[in-house]
Amino acid sequence: MSEAGHSSKKGPSKHGLAWLYFLFGLVFVAGGMYAIFYHGFLGQNNQNAYRQGIGQGIVVPTIDIVPERTAKAISNGETSYKTCAACHGTNLEGLACPSLKDNEWLHFKEPKETELAKLINHGVGASEAIKAKSVMPPRGGLESSTQVWEVIYYLSTKNTNIIKDAPQAK
Ligand code: HEC
Repeated sequence: MSEAGHSSKKGPSKHGLAWLYFLFGLVFVAGGMYAIFYHGFLGQNNQNAYRQGIGQGIVVPTIDIVPERTAKAISNGETSYKTCAACHGTNLEGLACPSLKDNEWLHFKEPKETELAKLINHGVGASEAIKAKSVMPPRGGLESSTQVWEVIYYLSTKNTNIIKDAPQAK
């Protein structure tokens, strides 16, 4: 009936603790397997490889899905272009901002679609504008980078100088 003898009977037995550790380990391993199965090892896929290429790192895939170049995407782009028209003109002629229909580019050596996407998603800050006295908001004021891609597809139909290198699903 000593204090020590009494208290050692309380609490989990050695056996019980082993089970607890075992279950804990099981949950940990199962969680890891789930993550690898659903997200791939280190999140590798074409979309993320592309994003890393343009310096965005790995982001939640749903916010930067490069849409397919379909007739629907192009007509969506034509609609979204209205947001750009305020600064770049209804017919891409450029107002106080650069024309998007010729082959003179302030910000690109080669007008690749992937380069356009980079610039449009980022926008043009006050210190980045080359000629204009104004700025361009991120995504040119659009809500998603998917809309940005659609506008780019539309621009590509209007300006054949733009190099069509948008990554497409094979
Ligand atoms: C509020 C005005 C504004 C809006 C809206 C806007 N832009 Fe711009 N855009 C600018 C400015 C300012 C520049 C940089 C001009 C400079 O560097 O002198 C620019 C630059 C660009 C360039 C680079 C042009 C070049 O010659 O290198 C592209 C491409 C472009 N914008 C596309 C778009 C698209 C597409 C949209 C719509 C999604 C859009 N912009 C919306 C103001 C705007």
